[in-house]
Amino acid sequence: MTLPIAVLVSGSGSNLQALIERVESGALDARIALVLSNKPEALALERARACGIKAVALPHADYPDRAAFDAAMVAAIRQSGAEAVVMAGFMRLLTPVFIHAFPGRIINIHPALLPSFAGAHGQRDAANYGVAISGATVHFVDEIMDHGPVVIQAAVPAYPDDDAASLGERILAMEHRILPQAVQWLATGRLSIEGRKVRLRDAGLPKAVVEGALVNPPLEQGF
Ligand code: GAR
Repeated sequence: MTLPIAVLVSGSGSNLQALIERVESGALDARIALVLSNKPEALALERARACGIKAVALPHADYPDRAAFDAAMVAAIRQSGAEAVVMAGFMRLLTPVFIHAFPGRIINIHPALLPSFAGAHGQRDAANYGVAISGATVHFVDEIMDHGPVVIQAAVPAYPDDDAASLGERILAMEHRILPQAVQWLATGRLSIEGRKVRLRDAGLPKAVVEGALVNPPLEQGF
């Protein structure tokens, strides 16, 4: 079974690229049915089109309010046949209109170890705070920003000389590993949500170290 997914983007689309590569390598049992951006100039749209993937811009300013914008996105996603939604650097809050359209089928990547440093500047806020460890989180999306149940996290070191860019680069490398892995677990029906907890069926060893990062649940073959 191949899961048709929609990928929501706002920026450069490096996480989208990581998904495309894992689909092409055969590791990821998903098909990217649609890439949607609220920003017409997003490089992510070009990346998608270069790979023959349908990519559409819906500028949020064209809609009277968030709910109307979300309803337009839901319509486009339904039309594409996508059954799950991956937020890969999508910098807009979703309203209940969107969230209730795909219950338990929306995941987001965030560049910090939630619940620390939620919001639009996770890397910068962690670097400025002076934490010694930060990382990335993939979580199910609920109605509260950066809040839903956690699927996978990767922890990376942070150093006193880090700024948003240097810490962000270290985090991004792990984002590119854990997001496709999380989508694969979703695509193969191995995730179940129990309140705030996400259970992964047939998980491997309880922890894994990948390129100096601690990743849990551990990455599997191909990710
Ligand atoms: C990623 O670091 C992602 O975690 C972050 O935006 C970046 C997008 O990069 N998302 C958020 O901050 C959401 N709150 P990309 O366009 O190269 O994938």
